[in-house]
Amino acid sequence: MSGAHKGRVAIVTGAAQGIGRAIAVRLAADGANLMLADVNGDVLQQGAAIVAAAGKVEILTHAGDLSQEDVVNAMMAAAMKKWGKVDILVNNAGGGVIRPFLSHTPETLRLTIDRNLWTALWCCRAALPHMRAAKYGRIVSIGADSVRNGLWDHAAYNAAKGGVHGLTTGLAREFAGDGITVNTVAPCAVATPQLEAMLGKNIPLVDKFIGVIPMGRAGDMREVASAVSYLASAEASFITGQVVSVNGGSTML
Ligand SMILES: NC(=O)c1ccc[n+]([C@@H]2O[C@H](COP(=O)([O-])OP(=O)(O)OC[C@H]3O[C@@H](n4cnc5c(N)ncnc54)[C@H](O)[C@@H]3O)[C@@H](O)[C@H]2O)c1
Repeated sequence: MSGAHKGRVAIVTGAAQGIGRAIAVRLAADGANLMLADVNGDVLQQGAAIVAAAGKVEILTHAGDLSQEDVVNAMMAAAMKKWGKVDILVNNAGGGVIRPFLSHTPETLRLTIDRNLWTALWCCRAALPHMRAAKYGRIVSIGADSVRNGLWDHAAYNAAKGGVHGLTTGLAREFAGDGITVNTVAPCAVATPQLEAMLGKNIPLVDKFIGVIPMGRAGDMREVASAVSYLASAEASFITGQVVSVNGGSTML
């Protein structure tokens, strides 16, 4: 991997497993020091060990529910205390409660918004003052291609991820003069262990999700991480306010 992030400090949320861990592995291999945060403390420690093997970088972990402002502020304070700066924020924490809209309960609706949107809102709010003071920052959030194609059973999830897409364009404009770029990577179905366990098992809904992808397969977590690493790099200095789909062509343009 490159040294594209050597000397940079990156926060990755939802870094314990899945796509977030793959992003953290990639950023470590590219040289970034990392704050890894997740609500699941035990799995986070296992994930951090895997990330540590990917690069000779400094790693901090923070366990807690990032939909809570005080948890996010404590995480940010710990990163600032250790490194005195935050160059990169990757808002990856999230995950769907995927079901028909009328099957949701008030609790699953709230959980969906909490996980996917409040985590990103609080993290941006905590990171941006430091980035603005430093006149440098890269924010990359994980959105969802399903916002663009209205995937089956994704209405509530899309409401949350659509909020992330909207936050991206608004913040990009507001902080464009501060050396800060704000972008979103929007994957289609990605072959996390969770999805892998369902592939090829004749589950009609899963087959439909893959069926809309012209390349005929789910994305690899490393394909998502690669796009994130590029948008988080200094090199991507003239790209802001974009939602970049990593989707095997499932939506185009
Ligand atoms: N897997 C896919 O097919 C797919 C497709 C499009 C978008 N996404 C998005 O990619 C991101 C990663 O998804 P994944 O498939 O790797 O899911 P995952 O469930 O494997 O990982 C998500 C991580 O986020 C953490 N998390 C959730 N809520 C949190 C909170 N409130 N505070 C702190 N941590 C929290 C979880 O503990 C978990 O470790 C999510 O935002 C998801 O919505 C995934």
